[in-house]
Amino acid sequence: MAGFIDVLRLGALDQAVASSAELYGRSRQHDLRCGSPRRQRVMVRAAAEGPDLSVTVNGLKFANPFVIGSGPPGTNYTVMKRAFEEGWGGVIAKTVSLDSSKVVNVTPRYARLKASGAPGTKPEVIGWQNIELISDRPFETMLAEMKQLKEEFPDRILIASIMEEYNRDAWEEIIERVEEAGVDAFEINFSCPHGMPERKMGMAMGQDCSVLEEVCGWINAKATIPVWAKMTPNITDITQPARTALRSGCEGVAAINTIMSVMGINLDTLRPEPCVEGYSTPGGYSCKAVRPIALAKVMSIAQMMKTEFPGQDRSLSGIGGVESGSHAAEFILLGASTVQVCTGVMLHGYGHVKTMCTELQAFMDKHGFISIEDFRGASLGYFTTHADLVQRQKEAVKIKKKQRKGLSSDKDWTGEGFVAETETMVSN
Ligand SMILES: Cc1cc2nc3c(=O)[nH]c(=O)nc-3n(C[C@H](O)[C@H](O)[C@H](O)COP(=O)(O)O)c2cc1C
Repeated sequence: MAGFIDVLRLGALDQAVASSAELYGRSRQHDLRCGSPRRQRVMVRAAAEGPDLSVTVNGLKFANPFVIGSGPPGTNYTVMKRAFEEGWGGVIAKTVSLDSSKVVNVTPRYARLKASGAPGTKPEVIGWQNIELISDRPFETMLAEMKQLKEEFPDRILIASIMEEYNRDAWEEIIERVEEAGVDAFEINFSCPHGMPERKMGMAMGQDCSVLEEVCGWINAKATIPVWAKMTPNITDITQPARTALRSGCEGVAAINTIMSVMGINLDTLRPEPCVEGYSTPGGYSCKAVRPIALAKVMSIAQMMKTEFPGQDRSLSGIGGVESGSHAAEFILLGASTVQVCTGVMLHGYGHVKTMCTELQAFMDKHGFISIEDFRGASLGYFTTHADLVQRQKEAVKIKKKQRKGLSSDKDWTGEGFVAETETMVSN
């Protein structure tokens, strides 16, 4: 089959991927169900040589840190299979709930923000708004497709994104049934900003720490595989729900989901975009324009995790505007282990993972890093308070003054040291 290579012919790095099934030393129990010859074959890796891009978090081994973020790129079997074939380290499927009949989408549901490029060039898309809901496909269909994927790709990481109403029985049922499909972990969507909060789901739960604590308690009492809580940036202090989720037993945090936004108003029709029958509703903003905000949120969560959950196998997945290996490096430098991409896949396609792996390896080569752990969190220590920056600058000026070369006034020239004094003021 095109695109496959035999495990026996893989190099050392590839063997690391191939053997990932053995490394599923889950913090919770998990059945690996490896077996048929077909299952013992792996896809060509996105990064074949160079520094090791693999990451292991919560007992899950990702071939590389690039993970499909929940959304259209993980919406059905065909596209998720494509992601694995192209070499993505993991896939987070589109969010599912038990009753898809309550989920009714509209079209158009996307709107773009474009940069004004040079005349004659195609304007670059820098911002993306969506008013898409969670999956409108039948729950049973999504379960069957996730099961099939795990059977065909047992060594690749498939994470189910789930969302439910404020009802313990519903959460227990969805967890039990999705686990039976054989997924590796859960990502809980506590963060969708549109549509679902009207049913007290998604962001409505993620913004209320007492509800979040209770719901995470139900989830973690039931789940036997790792659980990541996906956070909303639409809150004053994102560390509060992140802390609550981790204290309530979640193994990881993912941030950020989309930012509540209004893309714009059409100045001919005076109607907002995206316009559905003349009306619109605020939606979720993503793509490269959100990256600085996402980096700030990830930085705050990482600092909190470092201080309050040290030495624990708690993971952080960075999301927001990633389209290159350099963008991924920035999230990892702040403490993320994995990096999710959603809109970037909608703009550049699944094969883009290869480019991003190459770029990330080039960054690692430049600094002599041989693994992701070598530089994960390395930039976190360089954030401080503004008052501390002022103090540091004062001290630096003092030192520079002391080191200043040359005469500070013409009255200081001496006859004896004249040549040496001249030298101190020459620049080349
Ligand atoms: C069209 C679209 C649909 C999305 N659907 C979901 C979803 O079902 N569940 C979810 O957790 N996040 C969803 N997201 C949010 C993304 O997973 C991601 O958190 C966000 O878009 C920021 O990352 P990005 O800039 O790489 O897209 C969606 C995003 C987009 C653009």
